[in-house]
Amino acid sequence: MDLDPPIPKYQTSDPTSFAYKSARERWPAIITGAIDDVTRSVSALPGDAEDAVAEGKRIISSLGSLKYELQHDRALVEIGDDGQADVGLYNDELAARGRESGGGVVKWHGVEWLYGECYLYRRIGVLFSTARTAAWKGYDPFARQKMDTFRSSRNAVLELATRYREIIAQIKGSEDHRHLLAAGDESDEAEAEKTLFVEMAEICLWGNATDLSLLTTLTYEDIQKLQGSQARRESEKNVIVNDLGKAFDVLKRAEREGHQNRRVDIVLDNAGFELFVDLVLAGYLVAVGLATEVVLHPKSMPWFVSDVVPGDFAALLDAMRDPATFYASSETESKGLTEQQESDIKFLFEDWKNLHEDGKLILRPNRFWTHAGSFWRMPKIAPEVLEDLRESELVVFKGDLNYRKLTGDATWQPTTPFTDAIGPLGPGSGLRVLALRTCKADVVVGLPNGKDEEIRAMEGGGGDSGARKWAWSGKWAVVQFSDGKGTT
Ligand code: F6P
Ligand code: MG
Repeated sequence: MDLDPPIPKYQTSDPTSFAYKSARERWPAIITGAIDDVTRSVSALPGDAEDAVAEGKRIISSLGSLKYELQHDRALVEIGDDGQADVGLYNDELAARGRESGGGVVKWHGVEWLYGECYLYRRIGVLFSTARTAAWKGYDPFARQKMDTFRSSRNAVLELATRYREIIAQIKGSEDHRHLLAAGDESDEAEAEKTLFVEMAEICLWGNATDLSLLTTLTYEDIQKLQGSQARRESEKNVIVNDLGKAFDVLKRAEREGHQNRRVDIVLDNAGFELFVDLVLAGYLVAVGLATEVVLHPKSMPWFVSDVVPGDFAALLDAMRDPATFYASSETESKGLTEQQESDIKFLFEDWKNLHEDGKLILRPNRFWTHAGSFWRMPKIAPEVLEDLRESELVVFKGDLNYRKLTGDATWQPTTPFTDAIGPLGPGSGLRVLALRTCKADVVVGLPNGKDEEIRAMEGGGGDSGARKWAWSGKWAVVQFSDGKGTT
């Protein structure tokens, strides 16, 4: 806690904050979803799996108690020991928070949002990490939902698969013809490369608008035509700060300077469609030479419902290995795939499988990503993670929760420079940070003067209610860069 930014954090007790709504509306609904999922899996167990059925029922009952505690604003209790070192960190922090509150306890409706929400998923996680039967040990109660979500983004996946294949073919073709270019054409080519990079990264950004209705309308339109699409230009207006040009420049410079290893890292957010577009970006970066390898950082336990765990990566590749079968089980889309569509998806699968096998696409889990604290704690709590990330040319942090952790989920003035708000990961850290974030929580920094007020005054923006409602829906986005390797 002492390592976090020294300004107040968002609290579940504050009625103007999205924290308030999350704790009272979203979290109980999320636990109910987990109960439904476990119930379905219990009923699918074979009749003779008595131990597993009994354990499943105990897990359902524990989830029910957790929901009761939450809805009745009971005290947060110690997390049971599952042998992982982070349990001690969670419990020590809970005790310290209790002492600070004066009353010795911390309650669900009066806790710092970031701690309370991570604690919720850690409590759910311990039910499965301490399970004794194979049916429940390491079970992911959100896996079904994640795969269903991916299945329903079929149109966008197909569009993007076709475009990806075209782009890769174009890159390969332009490599063959590069030696024929006149000098003047080279700068045109660099400009075109930048435009394509920005577009690929923006698709990756909007893949984070995981609210399905938003996602399907945005991505379907956005990616129909990557270049010159009216729809994409429309959503570009909603990127309030866009530092993608700066990120491109550092990657291009590393390429020009001939750095042997040009690593890009992606601290992942959500599975399904978002992971799909992350892989599109990763594959593109390697194909075009802006990176020689991409390291992906997933979570180590079911997290914030849709976050990527290693099993989701495997499940996505599996689905793409045999898309006809995967989509044949779709409830929403019964139409079969055309031969071309099937071949495009298989092309992606082969490309990503090869990158993975060649060590150019690497999955690197670390339990730090599911700690309760902000990333301000990284240098002290997980110095090995920081050391590793310093090897990278660019570390991309996807999504809202990563942004909250970068900024400590603190009540910054929205004009605070991004480089200040990320504290120890900012200037001098040795890291280049790029946040790709659609806004789904109150914290926002790095805005020009007057921008927050301007959007608050728009319909649904929050007006003078004291709430920054515009930042809750995923409609707006910020893309912010900090060069901690440089001097500025
Ligand atoms: O609804 C709020 C919330 O649960 C936030 O706590 C969290 O930051 C966000 O949703 C998850 O979004 P993302 O998947 O982009 O991190
Ligand atoms: Mg997420």
